[in-house]
Amino acid sequence: MAVILGIESSCDETSASICIDGEIKSNIIAGQAIHAKYGGVVPELASRAHQLHIIPTVDEAIQQAKIHKNDIDAVAFTRGPGLLGSLLVGTSFAKSFALARQIPLIEVNHMQAHILAHFIEEPKPSFPFLCLTVSGGHTQIVLVKDYFEMELLGQTLDDAAGEAFDKTAKILNLPYPGGPLIDKYAQEGNPEAYKLPEPQIPELNFSFSGLKTAILYMVQAEEKKNPNFLAENIADVCASVQQRIVSILLNKLKKAAKQTGVRNIAIAGGVSANSGLRQGLLEMGEQYQWNVFIPKFEYCTDNAAMIAIAGYHKYLRKEFVGQDIAPLARMHV
Ligand code: KG4
Ligand code: ZN
Repeated sequence: MAVILGIESSCDETSASICIDGEIKSNIIAGQAIHAKYGGVVPELASRAHQLHIIPTVDEAIQQAKIHKNDIDAVAFTRGPGLLGSLLVGTSFAKSFALARQIPLIEVNHMQAHILAHFIEEPKPSFPFLCLTVSGGHTQIVLVKDYFEMELLGQTLDDAAGEAFDKTAKILNLPYPGGPLIDKYAQEGNPEAYKLPEPQIPELNFSFSGLKTAILYMVQAEEKKNPNFLAENIADVCASVQQRIVSILLNKLKKAAKQTGVRNIAIAGGVSANSGLRQGLLEMGEQYQWNVFIPKFEYCTDNAAMIAIAGYHKYLRKEFVGQDIAPLARMHV
């Protein structure tokens, strides 16, 4: 039997999970409301909150899994990419835990873990598959050849898709994080109401900074005509923005599928919680006869279950690290 404790602390979520023989038994997430009033994650406040949350979060994960901490065979933690101060809290905790209990330590790449979240539950994709990983910090198309053999085919040249949602929300005077709110308003709006540009970016890369500027100019022009423009048209604006972000993402995914001939297609990361993207992918999948894989909501945004499952597959391979391991703000898949 293999009991793995997973720890995630790369951004503003402190999370701990217990995985037993590849099955997730608990996935506790402590969020940080403190950032909302600043309109984005404040790194120093994030690391202080991780320090407060980490021990109670781990305790709860152990309790909910109905095990004792002596039962844990290895501890897996997010090494990066992420905010260095936040990563340091999870890394230091994991190292101390492993040292005190004399158990192996496993480092996990957060971007790989978002993709490996597909191996938590059925249906699990078979290799090779393409994964569109869309989060607050990344937008990537990855060719996944095996659990830890991944090739980056394309990525954003500027803002990430989640940033496009969050920065647009700021323009629309919506609180942080704006992605889920834009998603909510979009469900009542007309996606054809406002025409926004689709950038022409070569190969399988993305760009979202031009879209943000186009939205800003559109809102400014409309507000000159009607100072109440946003209050009166928020649903239509959100629906139009969401439709454009989704079409940028899905058109590149279609191109990647065509180029590689791969028909197992997955999405991962916080933005894969977006209802427009989920729906759009399902429709495209039907049209092109893809096998589509969409994670459960709770495994889309940052969570430790994905770290624990990635850790479990490294445990099977005996891929352990020593106490000299340090977190990395930047890491590739
Ligand atoms: O993966 P994640 O939880 O954290 C990072 O690793 O960045 O992704 C967070 C991002 C934020 O930008 C948030 O606005 C976005 O995911 N997000 C959404 C939705 N839920 C979360 N964006 C659009 N629609 C959603 N429903
Ligand atoms: Zn993430």
